[in-house]
Amino acid sequence: MQEQNPTGKRAAFVTGASYGIGAATALALARDGFDVAVSATRVENLSDVVAKLEAVGARVVPVALNLRSLPSMEQATNAVIKALGCLDVLVNNAGIPLRKPALEVTPEQWDAVIQTNVTGTFFMSQKMGRYLIGSGRPGCIINMASTHGVVGLAERSVYGISKAAIIHMTKMLAIEWAEHGVRVNAVAPGTVETPSRAASLADPKTREVMLNRVPLHRFATAEEVAGAVRYLVSPEAAYVTGQTLLVDGGLTAY
Ligand SMILES: NC(=O)c1ccc[n+]([C@@H]2O[C@H](COP(=O)([O-])OP(=O)(O)OC[C@H]3O[C@@H](n4cnc5c(N)ncnc54)[C@H](OP(=O)(O)O)[C@@H]3O)[C@@H](O)[C@H]2O)c1
Repeated sequence: MQEQNPTGKRAAFVTGASYGIGAATALALARDGFDVAVSATRVENLSDVVAKLEAVGARVVPVALNLRSLPSMEQATNAVIKALGCLDVLVNNAGIPLRKPALEVTPEQWDAVIQTNVTGTFFMSQKMGRYLIGSGRPGCIINMASTHGVVGLAERSVYGISKAAIIHMTKMLAIEWAEHGVRVNAVAPGTVETPSRAASLADPKTREVMLNRVPLHRFATAEEVAGAVRYLVSPEAAYVTGQTLLVDGGLTAY
């Protein structure tokens, strides 16, 4: 028997939604009528986004989540399902970047990126898969990948490896869970001007080099990435699973 959302709306959980792509995605889904749960490492970091979501009339559940801790993932997911009454969509957006020459990457940096981006995305998906399949409910998982998981670039090795793993994870889980009506897709943005990328984009030379790789010759907005998530969770994408939608201004078209 499927649990019902008390408000009759669909419910989504967007991880890493304190700012940037996660916040824009949560807002886009709220505008589409979803009740929305949002996470950050500290619940205090969510006050801005919660105010914006409430302003568009969404029911909002803010939770703390640390993707480097299995108990935290368990706790956050259970709290979200309990508070919203059900869950239809999980957006595995939270992740950490690393820009470092491969020769200088430490084992601690490797662990931090792989645990957060790969292990975190996998076990959050597993929790959502168990919930959806266990309750006989169709649903969607969207994983946030990156063009660095598709094409190579110097000084992004560990980050790119983590995003390539997410792209492959998306295919594997999509195949395994298709018979249960669970669709799994990924969005792979090029560079988006979010607060965490501001420092690396501050240098005009770096900016120009990055822009010259992009046929549309500009960076993406967080809202443009959110638009791809909106499509993938919509009924229009009912026959789309196991795919990675590149939102990259043509960067990987070369
Ligand atoms: N920006 C880009 O150019 C770009 C391009 C391609 C792909 N992406 C991907 O898109 C996603 C969002 O990127 P973004 O630039 O908007 O923000 P981001 O800086 O990559 O991610 C920020 C979010 O992740 C949360 N977070 C950090 N460490 C965490 C952990 N250990 N456990 C749980 N949550 C954690 C942060 O919470 P706190 O606020 O508490 O720190 C914050 O909400 C990421 O997966 C990123 O790799 C970004």
